[in-house]
Amino acid sequence: MNAQPNINAERELLKVAIVGHVDHGKSTFVGRLFHDTDSLPDGKYESIVAMCEKRGVDFEYAFLMDSFQAERDQGITIDTSQIWFSTTQRDYTIIDAPGHKEFLKNMVTGAAQSDAALLMIDALEGVQEQSRRHGYLLNLLGVSQIAVVVNKMDLVDYSQARFNEIEAEYRQYLKSIGVTPTRFIPISAREGDNIVTLSEKLSWYNGLSVTECLDDFKTLSKPVDLPLRLPVQDVYKFDDRRIIAGTIVSGALRIGDKITFSPSGKEAVVKNIESWPHDCSAAEKQNLVVGAGQSVGITLTEQIFVERGDVISHIETADDLSDILVAPHLGSEFTAKLFWLDPVAFEVGKNYKMKVGTAEIKVRVKQINHVLDAENLSQSQAQQLQRNQLGEVVLTARQPIALDDYRQFAKTGRFVLLEKYDIAGGGVISLDGYKNERAKLLAHQANITRVDHAVSLAERENYNGHKGGVLWLTGLSGSGKSTLAISLERKLFRKGLQVYVLDGDNLRHGLNNNLGFSDADRGENIRRASETAALMARAGFVVIVSLISPFALDREKAGLVQGDGFHEIYVKADLETCEKRDPKGLYKKARAGEIADFTGISSPYEVPKNPALVVDTAQHDVEQAANMLLEFATKQFHNEFTADYSI
Ligand code: ADX
Repeated sequence: MNAQPNINAERELLKVAIVGHVDHGKSTFVGRLFHDTDSLPDGKYESIVAMCEKRGVDFEYAFLMDSFQAERDQGITIDTSQIWFSTTQRDYTIIDAPGHKEFLKNMVTGAAQSDAALLMIDALEGVQEQSRRHGYLLNLLGVSQIAVVVNKMDLVDYSQARFNEIEAEYRQYLKSIGVTPTRFIPISAREGDNIVTLSEKLSWYNGLSVTECLDDFKTLSKPVDLPLRLPVQDVYKFDDRRIIAGTIVSGALRIGDKITFSPSGKEAVVKNIESWPHDCSAAEKQNLVVGAGQSVGITLTEQIFVERGDVISHIETADDLSDILVAPHLGSEFTAKLFWLDPVAFEVGKNYKMKVGTAEIKVRVKQINHVLDAENLSQSQAQQLQRNQLGEVVLTARQPIALDDYRQFAKTGRFVLLEKYDIAGGGVISLDGYKNERAKLLAHQANITRVDHAVSLAERENYNGHKGGVLWLTGLSGSGKSTLAISLERKLFRKGLQVYVLDGDNLRHGLNNNLGFSDADRGENIRRASETAALMARAGFVVIVSLISPFALDREKAGLVQGDGFHEIYVKADLETCEKRDPKGLYKKARAGEIADFTGISSPYEVPKNPALVVDTAQHDVEQAANMLLEFATKQFHNEFTADYSI
């Protein structure tokens, strides 16, 4: 057995990942660390020494690790991936990330939980590509306490110059990726130099020994201040209770809390928390707070369907103004920084199983934005990620999934990809540029069922003799949108079309009379107008919408609401022209500071990038411009007009 029985529950525990190139001496180092800190089980050292003598081989500290490995393989030790030792200060778990191809795999699951890392470099061989990759990955995984141990100093005659050279080179690299190492320590694991006490052979070194450095690392505070994330591990049925079990990854939870399950969006109230100290009184139970790191079982006041993989959080309310989402982002697409481990390349178009939290989700590779060379951090384009390569990729799922950005939620923002049952890659989730679909999705969730009409759109269009659809006129105030819309309405009506204008000013008198001109209000203004337009289009109308609609995103959404039959038309006139026209005297007022957020003056207008038609009212008079629109509309909506009135 190794040293874990000595571990004292009262003492502080620090988790350290030991990483390094395969030949840089990690096993020897760990063996030496155990030996020199007196953490080896009784008789272990002696038995290995005796075995070496018997076999006529020189004793090596690495053999200690080999024997632990053998025990782990036989399932003798409690944990299969972690080993323990202690200093006088506190206890340690070493997350042993073996070198070679297994290394990256363990980084995802092993270093994931670590508070700190010792990164080992061979003094003789110096900084290798793998050393760089380790540094990059530790940083990516959010391990920020990193000490670099330069091993095998005995092989370079304890040369300060060699140490300085390695330190300078590696420090430079770490700096380029934004990492400041805690310290560099020259050691010889084989000779025991600078492991527990400072060695005279390295008298030029004034820093800490390895164990002093370890004792100097800080245990990371548990992320209790972050919003609650409790991935559901399992749901157990006891008599008539359903206990939802899992480990709280961040935040805190108490009885009576209103919670939501993502991505389903179901909501519930916590009735009871089943894992409190047994001698806890009823009153204490009511005040009980369980937090990050704790495993809990909860029951709900009402029975709802919950399954493994759901993420429990609190419910986002209108008062939650923080940038950190109370409930996870919902979306079916995200960007990931990914490192690939599998011999079979990661490829655009392929499907993988993604494990994030307790959920397993099928994802597809949409694109590879770039491949990153860990050596020199240069980027290149490719359709594949080869083994040991890093890349920025876009993954999509069929349904919306619960996602956290790794920069806010280090743990839930991390995932692995499986090929068959094996970890094939791992990475972190970035949600930059992705819209949270929660509100939209939950609206779909309510107890609403669509009613089918008895009159189909095709019947209406047949009856009308033309198609329904939306002509969306966007442009600055004073560009001529309303004038053109009204003129076009008349022209189309005379041609026998069912046509109606939705004008911004008019809508703001009724439907939208509770909205102002903030970005958000404009967004809502446009959403309502687009929904109304889409309804009318479904009723067979040609709807001419006339709204400044200054933001491309809002217009894009309006297009999505309608789908086919949406045509964005840019009514173009430069600011100077509009201001000269100033039909309502508003530019003047805006210039005088009497109107806030005035488009073109104190609020931006985003020119359409790809409109279906541009009508330049600075170039054409009203009649010309209206006829251009008429021609366009006729092409789009005119099937077989029955009437042909002259205009
Ligand atoms: S939008 O930007 O939300 O699309 P909308 O087209 O509905 O605007 O309304 C614009 C009209 O509101 C303008 O034609 C103008 O008459 C009036 N208006 C009043 N205040 C403003 C403002 N701050 N910015 C733009 N238009 C304003």
